[in-house]
Amino acid sequence: MAGVIRNVADARRRARRTLPRVVYDYVDGGADDEITMAENERAFRDIAFRPRVAVDTGEPDLTTTVLGTRVSMPVLLAPCGLVRLMHPDSALGVGRAAAAKDTIWVLSSVAGVTLEAAAPAGGRRWFQLYASGGRREAEETIERAKAAGYEALVVTVDTPALGNRERDARHGVGTPMRLDAHTAIRLGPQVLARPRWSLRMIRSGVSMLKRPSRPTDVAARAGTDLETASSFYTHASPFTWADIAWVRERWAKPLLVKGVLTGADAVQAADAGADAVVVSNHGGRQLDGAAATIRALPEVVDTVSGRIEVLMDGGVRRGGDVLKALAMGARAVLIGRPYLYGLSADGQRGVERILDILRSEMARSLRLLGCASVSELDRSYVEIPERTGGLANRS
Ligand code: FNR
Ligand code: LAC
Repeated sequence: MAGVIRNVADARRRARRTLPRVVYDYVDGGADDEITMAENERAFRDIAFRPRVAVDTGEPDLTTTVLGTRVSMPVLLAPCGLVRLMHPDSALGVGRAAAAKDTIWVLSSVAGVTLEAAAPAGGRRWFQLYASGGRREAEETIERAKAAGYEALVVTVDTPALGNRERDARHGVGTPMRLDAHTAIRLGPQVLARPRWSLRMIRSGVSMLKRPSRPTDVAARAGTDLETASSFYTHASPFTWADIAWVRERWAKPLLVKGVLTGADAVQAADAGADAVVVSNHGGRQLDGAAATIRALPEVVDTVSGRIEVLMDGGVRRGGDVLKALAMGARAVLIGRPYLYGLSADGQRGVERILDILRSEMARSLRLLGCASVSELDRSYVEIPERTGGLANRS
């Protein structure tokens, strides 16, 4: 049936047809030549499954726990900026979808809504911290996250400077994505070419023509609104390990460090007090040429497993990719673009659709793998190619 979203690739095509090109490119794009972004997806294909046949697994069990929180499946929604630009359901729709599917969602510091406004989405909500305004802004934001009931803090450490997003630059919006009168005139034809999106935005009152706040406002009001969020880029967010230890002293609930790609940095994160790391290269939006996350994962797991939990994100597009990541030691994965495509296509319902698709793909692949639950996955279920001069398969 035409129009049914059957997989993440369908949702991406639908998002491309729905969003003004400038917004689609912000979501779909990466840094420089987009090599790491492509490698994130491609590297999953290098990993082969080693199924056990003639095993009756029954209906596989997808449930697991992440930092003590039970989830219905090992797929969390990654923190993503400017979600209000994709659909009026915005961060609330993302959170409600995660709650409906009994998994965790992470609100970005620059989602375009305040952490207080997003909190009513409910469910298991985490907050991702940028602190372009330094420790003063971080301290205030941490207290706000506590008061709003966020259950974990994710500190992103791969953004000391902003990745070179050439698709955004070509649209003349540069970084930050400033949607104001000047850009609206330049991008008007793209917006007019997407009447459904434009009407939805106008009806929802998303103001895109106000000039972004001044940098000092950004520091004080991170994530307060679309303009503030889009001005986030006026600064990057240079956290150090000493900053992580400083955050640890101020946040008693689970603390995760996102953007680690080596065992040595995972040890630094554990030493600084993190409860988990997210092996991530920001979806290839920061350092182009960095390793694909599924290739970096084994070294991190081998270095800190048993000390702290290891999650990963980047390039997960199928349920089978989730299973490969778990077999290689990830506790769970986060997805970014896949749920943004779903959000762009159909708001909260679209995000729920993506989670349902990944769930059914995981269940089917587990059955075909001869594995009864995600908790039983280990490296004996996969064949990991040798890293150039690096890790061998350790089955
Ligand atoms: C992101 N990501 C991100 N990460 C973060 O820590 N804070 C943020 O505000 C954002 N913003 C953001 C916007 C958009 C449009 C994208 C696509 C990504 C990175 C995100 O959390 C995650 O690491 C990657 O998206 C994972 O890769 P995939 O699933 O997109 O391939
Ligand atoms: C990005 C920022 C918001 O990747 O982290 O666009």
